[in-house]
Amino acid sequence: METFTHSPPLAAFATDALAGRPVLVVGAGQAASDEASLVGNGRAISLALARCGAVVHCADRGPAAAHATVAAIEASGGQARPIVADVSDPASCRRLVDEATQGGPLHALVLNVGISDRRPLPDITPESWDSILQVNLRAHMLCAQAALPRMQSGGAIVFISSLAARMAAGRNPAYETSKAALSALCRAVALEGHARGIRANIVAAGLVDTPMGRAASQARPERGRMPLPFGRQATGWDIAAAVVFLVSDAGQYVNAIELPVDGGLGQGIALAPHATS
Ligand SMILES: NC(=O)c1ccc[n+]([C@@H]2O[C@H](COP(=O)([O-])OP(=O)(O)OC[C@H]3O[C@@H](n4cnc5c(N)ncnc54)[C@H](O)[C@@H]3O)[C@@H](O)[C@H]2O)c1
Repeated sequence: METFTHSPPLAAFATDALAGRPVLVVGAGQAASDEASLVGNGRAISLALARCGAVVHCADRGPAAAHATVAAIEASGGQARPIVADVSDPASCRRLVDEATQGGPLHALVLNVGISDRRPLPDITPESWDSILQVNLRAHMLCAQAALPRMQSGGAIVFISSLAARMAAGRNPAYETSKAALSALCRAVALEGHARGIRANIVAAGLVDTPMGRAASQARPERGRMPLPFGRQATGWDIAAAVVFLVSDAGQYVNAIELPVDGGLGQGIALAPHATS
């Protein structure tokens, strides 16, 4: 297995809870980074699902990003295949679900894709607003809409949202709005999926030390200096562990919830940086 900056809690994922089950992760790559060992949420989620035995369809707009996730899964003995698709295009959303379901219905769909332009309100244009909402919201609806009729009963959909859905997060209204809207979309998908035995839930991440997270902290150094629970940011593995629970049978009566993975930050729990070390 590849070595990552934050070691994955391998024991937590060493199960066959998802053996042979096909899952689709949208946004399964990660932003380019000088630090090759830093893991993004989509890659950690894909690796964790594969470690639990799932056959992972890794969709990303970046061919190199999608292939790198597949290579990391295969190197650890798992099964995966890449799908290159830009979900800002509605036809691509439908096509990637078609590709992922060629071999049969899906057990799970994880919608991890998310972008941000950090434009404060005065700088937003109709075009910039639409470009964020197309990827962070419309694509989630289109992928869920296409996938639902092609999922196994007992399956699950997970949306990756953010604490920014309910807290001002540094003058980023398009991103915050897109994440807040996922709450209503998740409820609608859960309602629609219920009759088919399919659940839908949200993982609401706090600050996560991913390549994208580090870039955000470089752009706004105060982000990296925030007092945090346990004196650290989350890692992709923390997010992955929540996803594994929600898509596995262990979570079979958990539906239409938002599971915060923020160390308690959203509840006001915070320590000075590194106070626990
Ligand atoms: N990093 C954090 O601090 C943080 C906090 C809260 C929530 N999140 C959420 O977690 C998710 C992943 O974040 P990350 O930090 O790992 O980011 P990331 O940029 O490393 O990963 C996102 C992936 O989505 C892909 N992608 C972007 N646009 C796409 C498109 N149009 N079509 C297909 N793929 C596309 C990218 O290529 C990348 O591989 C996002 O939804 C983000 O909002 C992150």
